[in-house]
Amino acid sequence: MKTKLLKDQSRILFLTSILIIFCFNGFAQNTLISDMDQLKWEKVMPGIWKASFGEMGLNPMDYTNPPNIKAIEELGDTPFPFDEEATYSLLTANRASIRLPLGETEKIYGLGLEFEGMNRRSNVYSLKVDHYGGTKGYTHAPVPFYISSKGYGVLINSSQRVKIHVGVGNRKDSNLPERIDRTTGKNWAARPLSDAIEASVQAGGMEIYVFTGQTNLEVVQRYNLFFGGGILPPKWGLGFWHRVHTTSSDQDVLKEIQDFESNNFPLDVIGLEPGWQSFAYPCSFDWDPTRFPNPGNFVNMLDKKGIKVNLWENPYVSPSSTMYEDIRPFTGSHTVWLGEVPDYTIPEAREVLLNHHEKNHLNLGVSGYKIDEVDGYDVWLWPDHATFPSGTDAVEMRQVYGMMMQDMFDDYFKKQNTRTYSLIRSAYIGASNHNFVLYSDYYDHKGYVTAMASASLTGLLWTPEIRSANSGEEWVRRFQTVAFSPLMMLNAWSSGKKPWSFPEVTDIVRNTIELRLKLLPYLYTAFYDYNQKGIPPFRAMILENGYRTQETQKSGVINDVTNPYAEEKRLEVTDQYMMGPSILVAPVFTGQKERNVVLPQGDWFDFYTGEYVGDGEIITIQTKLEEIPLFVKDGAIIPMLTSISKSETDNSLEVRHYGKKENSFLLYDDDGVSYNYEKGEFSMTELKAEKTENGKLSGSSNAINNKKSNYSEITWRWMTKQ
Ligand code: GAL
Repeated sequence: MKTKLLKDQSRILFLTSILIIFCFNGFAQNTLISDMDQLKWEKVMPGIWKASFGEMGLNPMDYTNPPNIKAIEELGDTPFPFDEEATYSLLTANRASIRLPLGETEKIYGLGLEFEGMNRRSNVYSLKVDHYGGTKGYTHAPVPFYISSKGYGVLINSSQRVKIHVGVGNRKDSNLPERIDRTTGKNWAARPLSDAIEASVQAGGMEIYVFTGQTNLEVVQRYNLFFGGGILPPKWGLGFWHRVHTTSSDQDVLKEIQDFESNNFPLDVIGLEPGWQSFAYPCSFDWDPTRFPNPGNFVNMLDKKGIKVNLWENPYVSPSSTMYEDIRPFTGSHTVWLGEVPDYTIPEAREVLLNHHEKNHLNLGVSGYKIDEVDGYDVWLWPDHATFPSGTDAVEMRQVYGMMMQDMFDDYFKKQNTRTYSLIRSAYIGASNHNFVLYSDYYDHKGYVTAMASASLTGLLWTPEIRSANSGEEWVRRFQTVAFSPLMMLNAWSSGKKPWSFPEVTDIVRNTIELRLKLLPYLYTAFYDYNQKGIPPFRAMILENGYRTQETQKSGVINDVTNPYAEEKRLEVTDQYMMGPSILVAPVFTGQKERNVVLPQGDWFDFYTGEYVGDGEIITIQTKLEEIPLFVKDGAIIPMLTSISKSETDNSLEVRHYGKKENSFLLYDDDGVSYNYEKGEFSMTELKAEKTENGKLSGSSNAINNKKSNYSEITWRWMTKQ
């Protein structure tokens, strides 16, 4: 066991004297942790510090993109956020651990995709890539990055599963709270408050990064920008997606497209599920010759209708695949569903997969993939003791497998100068700059809304896809959430449902989808801000300035017979979130006749009527089936398309203004498909609402970068009575 004691004699003397002073006062301090080493921090960029110790294995940052240094610099600098002296590391025979300070009232958020709440304090998580398994840290994207309410974030960079104790687990030499006798004391706590976050990995070392910011949002921005910022999806990706039944043939799909046309529903992407392949679970990655005899023709026909094709696959290779022999030398010791598991840390393995996909799908015009089962339960995936030809540890391989696949496909699309918008079921550190959206089989509507918000805290995008419903009401409510999410998708792979499957609400569903499509100019600009500034387009309320968290604690009552270890329960508001700079979305769940909405400080207005609704308060609203409640900030400028028809050459805009404030909005636009925007091929139009001499608001638009916008006519609409 390696336990390094403090080397410096004078420091020992100094610490000993503090020990004497504090012991005398009846409590210990952080600086007494003498069997741990102090971490040494090095500033890497404005507001970003790094410390490391020991040797780490597979570096998750091998699968992320380089930082946007300029944008990080523009955020300015901030001081190191906590006492450097109170940060420690320890290497033992088989674990590397750290200890970082935590204030008594500090709240901790983040740690990846979570469905049941956001404040992570007073809990222990084993951050493991897995199917969602409750609040224990098993999830599709268990990102070891947390944000503190004190204005900083910490990233533990390791491909091993991070076990993190967030304010629980008290060292005997730490700052301990008062001991209370449980028999007589009311305030006895099953989880005594601790003054630290402690985390460990089963490895020989790790890296730790600290990100600061003036606000919670800035911390997240810095984290995202450290990995290149967020993504800018192709415009079609923000349209309507429909995944057909797994047994569908090309003819079935063509028929379904016709039904979309006759029912007057927009359609931008068709997703094919496992049955497009000649063999699935494990996968052949080859088209099924009976269901899809002429895939090139099929993809082309859809392309002519403006519909993209997305293909489902999981990574496990069937012996029946035409790439089997080529990939075989690069696969691990164990199979998944009897399919071989490629080791994509090896460049040759990546080449085999990409060549096969290029030749068989991408060259035909396939727009992207839905990469499934890169998480999976232990009983499905490879065991921790599996071996891989590169020598990569099986646990690390599992933790970053999804990221490896994202990185590989992203690089490919970038080289083709074509943007993809794809789906994946697992992500990890630094995922914001990969063109993938997460999804799950978990189907709790409320949980899906929480997931959308929690995803934003660690650089992730989440789709609360709709699959089926038990009633027309549920169908509408889920559709509304999906329409206000990063990826609007009906995943009918097993239900075979269509948007019009509940005829009594078909018009409402159509209007909902149309509203989302009309908001494209606003949303696309929000994604540009994600790309350039790291601002998540769909965000948790705690990232919004002026939002006061409404968390309450419900205390459990100690009862010697039934509940001798009573614990407090945290009650959080997680059923609302922000979309773009100024829209607050408050989804309604089946059966809800009214709901509360927590408004951040400032005047807020109803999106549909423009009427004032409140300022920094909790309002109760009566729900309407046909509307998802949306609220808009004072001065908000919301550019919307007037028509969503694809054949429409008229790209005119209605620019809505809410409230009384003067304001301006920088409307971004580009070709919507390529990376040419990175070379300056985009237009930026300033939409400005200013008061004229008579005190009334008047709108103007000005091109500010000499590039003509794709939008033709602009009409202003003053939503709030002036
Ligand atoms: C699941 C996935 C579903 C669907 C299905 C097909 O793992 O989450 O969305 O694609 O596989 O078999």
